Amino acid sequence: MAEGNIIIQNAAQLVTCSGSEAKKGLQMGNLGIVENGAIVIEDGVITQVGKTDEVLKTVNVDGFQVIDALGKAVLPGFVDSHTHFVFGGDRSEEFSWRLKGVDYMEIMERGGGILSTVKATRNETEKVLYEKGFKCLTSMLSFGVTTVEGKSGYGLDTETELKQLRVMKKINEHHPMDVITTYMGAHAVPPEYKGQEGRMIEDIIKEVLPLVKKEGLAEFCDVFTEKNVFSIEQSRKLLMAAAVMGFKLKMHADEIVPLGGAELAAEVSAVSADHLLQVSEKGMKALADKNVVATLLPGTAFSLKASYAPARELINAGCAVALASDFNPGSCHTESIPLIIALATLYMGLTPEETVTALTLNGAAAINREKEIGSLDVGKKGDVVILKDPSYHFLSYHIGVNTVEQVIKNGRLVMDNRHQLVS
Ligand code: NIG
Ligand code: FE
Repeated sequence: MAEGNIIIQNAAQLVTCSGSEAKKGLQMGNLGIVENGAIVIEDGVITQVGKTDEVLKTVNVDGFQVIDALGKAVLPGFVDSHTHFVFGGDRSEEFSWRLKGVDYMEIMERGGGILSTVKATRNETEKVLYEKGFKCLTSMLSFGVTTVEGKSGYGLDTETELKQLRVMKKINEHHPMDVITTYMGAHAVPPEYKGQEGRMIEDIIKEVLPLVKKEGLAEFCDVFTEKNVFSIEQSRKLLMAAAVMGFKLKMHADEIVPLGGAELAAEVSAVSADHLLQVSEKGMKALADKNVVATLLPGTAFSLKASYAPARELINAGCAVALASDFNPGSCHTESIPLIIALATLYMGLTPEETVTALTLNGAAAINREKEIGSLDVGKKGDVVILKDPSYHFLSYHIGVNTVEQVIKNGRLVMDNRHQLVS
């Protein structure tokens, strides 16, 4: 995707989120705001950030697209650091069962849930997966997301896992958004491995991980560490082997049953531990000590009608908290950033400032990109969101509504949400 030259000037607020490391604990409240700000992006990279009058003194606007952001707040592009956006089929009927009271894990144990998406994904063509995934990213972009992480894990067999990862790689080449890929072959236990989870982990280590590495299809390795899925011991074995092969690590940890997933994430120096609804006090401390980003997924707790992760306790323990959508066909079928913001602020007790940090710099840190994206700092990618409102407060105040007006990726305007009434 071509890179651009843009000047955004007269912004009521530049919410810089300035920093090159995840913000931990109460530091998350610091947004580095510049009033009446301007930002210059050259060849896709931020070259100046400051007060409009000072910035404009030093640049010749020839060759730049100039955007006037008078009365508008300008933020870094959002980072959605945990999604499962490539999958076959849908689970709309299962959702209706859940609304009638059937439990998520019960559906999975009966061969539904993740496994029904596995079946549909195995039977789906690469072309359809590509088209569905591409459309999904365009929707995410409209909410201001400029970088997304995507996981495999709906194939579970080698062929379909590689198919999912190749689809994401191809989408990354053609969509304005950046896609960071994660191999998650240990997402569920398919019928061919039922009762033989240990053998499945060994096969992944011996056969699949080397192929994923060889084709350069994924940067991260993730695992669903959960009762009746993969145990702590099996997860440790997988993650340690993946680390030796050069994968960075992520975990679905302490989501439904507290197994000590956060402690394991800290032990293996994972980049992030995600979900954490049931995290222990010891686990929180371990995450903070080892600089593992605690990625919270309020859309999933909401959709499963579960209690939310203890966000305030994690912040008080000194953790860096990120927020992500967890968009997937089952436990959380929404890519809506406005919904995530509403849940984080109204139900998890994050402040509006912490919420912004969690979706920008800390989201970037959750995919090991805190030096490249996640803030409006010189040298970072020109990924920018312009709100239709004068301050970031509107993100939480205008409940559940998309307040993003324009999105810039690598210095190019790629999304314009200004609505026109068709008369
Ligand atoms: O992050 N927890 C496991 N994996 C997904 C759910 C995927 C699904 O239900 O299809 C999650 O919530
Ligand atoms: Fe997930």
